Amino acid sequence: MTGEHYYSARPATEERRRTVRFSAAGREFSLVAAGGVFSADRLDPGTAVLLRKAPLPSAQARGPFLDLGCGYGPIACVLATTAPTATVYAVDVNTRALELVRHNAAAVGATDRIHAVTPDKVPDEVVFQQIWSNPPIRVGKADLHDMLRRWLSRLAPDGEAWLVVARHLGADSLHGWLAEQGWSVSRQGSQKGYRVLRVAASA
Ligand SMILES: C[S@@+](CC[C@H](N)C(=O)[O-])C[C@H]1O[C@@H](n2cnc3c(N)ncnc32)[C@H](O)[C@@H]1O
Repeated sequence: MTGEHYYSARPATEERRRTVRFSAAGREFSLVAAGGVFSADRLDPGTAVLLRKAPLPSAQARGPFLDLGCGYGPIACVLATTAPTATVYAVDVNTRALELVRHNAAAVGATDRIHAVTPDKVPDEVVFQQIWSNPPIRVGKADLHDMLRRWLSRLAPDGEAWLVVARHLGADSLHGWLAEQGWSVSRQGSQKGYRVLRVAASA
């Protein structure tokens, strides 16, 4: 991408749609991505590690789940497929990404269950059973921390969050910061330089 961040609200980069194919949870996915959206040419390797190492919801799980910083929606689409009656909020500041999520939600037969919205459009009363995120580290520490504080405070008391962060982008310092904030944090797995963190309320 040229000089533009993947987290622009309205990317100016040419849209040029393309198909991203990957397998997760024993299924094949074929989703549409586009220029101006994070990792539009392949499933991001960090997201792939997250979907491999964190326990995907059971088929009975109802959610609601949050895909925080959803991009074109690979995590939301996998969650909605493995839990076929669950509600998933797919949240991003990039409106082009949200249009792609709507398209991809239709492709996986989850139009009514994946709500692709900007952060302010999530109804205040919604409390999440699970939060999943490959968070936007490049926005900077202050914004990242604000974003995590905002959404982790909406985790159900018995809920869990699953985050993936590259080690060289500060996974261990984020782990430490989350623990300082009073969360119970553990490393669920580690692969190809990525850490998968489980975050839950402290007992
Ligand atoms: C690392 S990308 C992950 C995208 C997608 N989940 C994936 O795995 O391909 C992080 C995403 O967070 C979004 N983002 C940036 N700031 C945000 C914010 N304040 N609230 C929600 N999403 C944000 C970016 O636009 C970007 O799509």
